[in-house]
Amino acid sequence: MIALGIEGTAWSLSIGVVDEEGVIALENDPYIPKEGGIHPREASQHHSERLPSLLSRVFEKVDKNSIDVVAFSQGPGMGPCLRVVATAARLLAIKLEKPLVGVNHCLAHVEVGRWQTGARKPVSLYVSGGNSQVIARRGNRYRVFGETLDIGIGNALDKLARHMGLKHPGGPKIEELAKKGQKYHFLPYVVKGMDFSFSGMVTAAQRLFDSGVRMEDVAFSFQETAFAMLTEVTERALAYLDLNEVLLVGGVAANKRLQEMLRIMCEDRGAKFYVPPKELAGDNGAMIAYTGLLMYKHGHQTPVEKSYVRPDFRIEDVEVNWD
Ligand code: ATP
Ligand code: FE2
Repeated sequence: MIALGIEGTAWSLSIGVVDEEGVIALENDPYIPKEGGIHPREASQHHSERLPSLLSRVFEKVDKNSIDVVAFSQGPGMGPCLRVVATAARLLAIKLEKPLVGVNHCLAHVEVGRWQTGARKPVSLYVSGGNSQVIARRGNRYRVFGETLDIGIGNALDKLARHMGLKHPGGPKIEELAKKGQKYHFLPYVVKGMDFSFSGMVTAAQRLFDSGVRMEDVAFSFQETAFAMLTEVTERALAYLDLNEVLLVGGVAANKRLQEMLRIMCEDRGAKFYVPPKELAGDNGAMIAYTGLLMYKHGHQTPVEKSYVRPDFRIEDVEVNWD
């Protein structure tokens, strides 16, 4: 069975085609703001302008008549972007006379990660621009055991980078700078129960920079503090839930220092650590296609009249009836 998935919850626009064995095609055309952050209207305009050519690129590689299911990112995300993607997916499903499946974006990050790495029952640390959550399956739902109380870690890194004059996306630039960091400067370490917060840290790190601290040391101090917070909460979830696998997903999963901290924590506890390849850890259409396929095979479908977008869609809202 073959599924096509369209992802476009925010800046990313990506179409993937998968079958049970692997990824058949993956084409990306991200929206990259000229300056500043992501503007929802501009991002959605980009998506509507580029979707037709992106689809053509995919259909040069895959026969459109071989598609069995059309999946799309239904939420969470920016309303205007979600609407463009949902409209395209509906049209495609109607034209191909194939079923439509609306997919939760967070669920897709976790499921594609499990598929790619072989993790079975992990505690997932999902870290991206807009989201930072510690997720694990309990019965027929995924549950969020801890999450950010304000902004996602990716947004925090991007904000700090922008303040220091670096272009979006800032995460990879902070990672490079941090490698050259030598001196740790204090930053507020905010973990409350199983939740954490980054916005106070961003302000404090911006002040360090404004007071003349080297960019490299600001980046280093920020990463060490923020990633230690994420590692602590992930470890606590492992202990509480008595699980022994950690899966790192989302755009920030590409960060080698975060991977290293989690790997060390897992080794200390005798747990296994998994991270999918970078192109499938961040936003991508293949994760939507794969999750759509999985859901369809387990009886899920989204009739066109119920395919409205869900900007606040939570992972807990999806009933999980697969292994
Ligand atoms: P979501 O909709 O799930 O919140 P997103 O739109 O933020 O996702 P992702 O691809 O999951 O998209 O993540 C993008 C984020 O990942 C950006 O904030 C970017 O700075 C960050 N990022 C990418 N590479 C790295 C890296 N090497 N280190 C740290 N952060 C990174
Ligand atoms: Fe994402």
